[in-house]
Amino acid sequence: MAALATSAKGPPDKGSGGALIGPIAAALKRKAREIGLGAMVRKGMNMTAVVRVPDTLWRIGEEKEGKTRYGRSRQIGLHHHWHCRIIRAIPARTWEETMQKLAAGNWKMNGLAASLGEVQALLAAHPAPVCEMLLCPPATLLAQMNWAARGSNLRLGGQDCHPDAAGAHTGDISAAMLKDAGATYVVLGHSERRADHGEGDALILAKAKAALTAGLTPIICIGETEAQRDRGQTLDVIGTQLDGSTPKGGDLVIAYEPVWAIGTGRTPTIAQIAEVHAFLRARLTALIGPRAAGIRILYGGSVKPSNAAEIFAVPHVDGALVGGASLKAADFGAIVAALSAA
Ligand code: 13P
Repeated sequence: MAALATSAKGPPDKGSGGALIGPIAAALKRKAREIGLGAMVRKGMNMTAVVRVPDTLWRIGEEKEGKTRYGRSRQIGLHHHWHCRIIRAIPARTWEETMQKLAAGNWKMNGLAASLGEVQALLAAHPAPVCEMLLCPPATLLAQMNWAARGSNLRLGGQDCHPDAAGAHTGDISAAMLKDAGATYVVLGHSERRADHGEGDALILAKAKAALTAGLTPIICIGETEAQRDRGQTLDVIGTQLDGSTPKGGDLVIAYEPVWAIGTGRTPTIAQIAEVHAFLRARLTALIGPRAAGIRILYGGSVKPSNAAEIFAVPHVDGALVGGASLKAADFGAIVAALSAA
């Protein structure tokens, strides 16, 4: 059984979350002992209250504006949520039940400080979506966006990280730096990085492990080129990418992004998306076991308000990784609304 630990390092508690961590920690530890898995409850930097329960079936309730909202069991950060508190942890029956769908926006190399108005507009229109809402701005905007989104449900992510924790790597950014700037996710192995920077599966796996070590959830991108699809190699290609770039432990997200659908306005047919996502769920199960049922598999590539609902209706599509349409609050908000309704 993995070690259980409760520690309370860091400055004194400024929020209400910390006060209730104790009883939840005790309950989680009891349950973890029962099922033979590990639970770790810790209070971390800036008195962010983090409940981390690797590989156990738990849903944690946060109280916000008088409502209890259940999130994913494995990592709930209350960063900046001073008015939130964890009030309850209940056992989940299945891995699926621990899953909250994810609408992720990848701003790529777009956005200046002036673009933060889009974040304000998004949050004003969607203060409490049912799905999880994530934006991955360029690294230069991360800290500013974190400030702009303080007190909100918006999660932030980086677009890449170096496999090392620190060191002489001019121009690179470590996972710990992203975390320090406010990220809880990081996109890894995007096809643009695979193509522009020659990134391969082994490097992406190393980056994913570094992300997990720093406390970030990696979003691992895979996808075939048009030529590979035309040659009938789609499942072979993405299966190999998945096997080679996915860590065996830890919380993670998979994003299926056919290269030929990115930024082109073209998307696979619904049947093609369904085939790939069912294949990925099965392959992931072979790779990491039953907890694969709780891992989110996103579709990415020309998702927009007009096609989001039909894509979200496909089995095993647990959200989207959105490029161009995430830059405008109105478009991304419509995608968030479609996912919340799915
Ligand atoms: P588009 O939504 O612009 O096609 O981009 C998808 C993507 O690459 C997200 O990572």
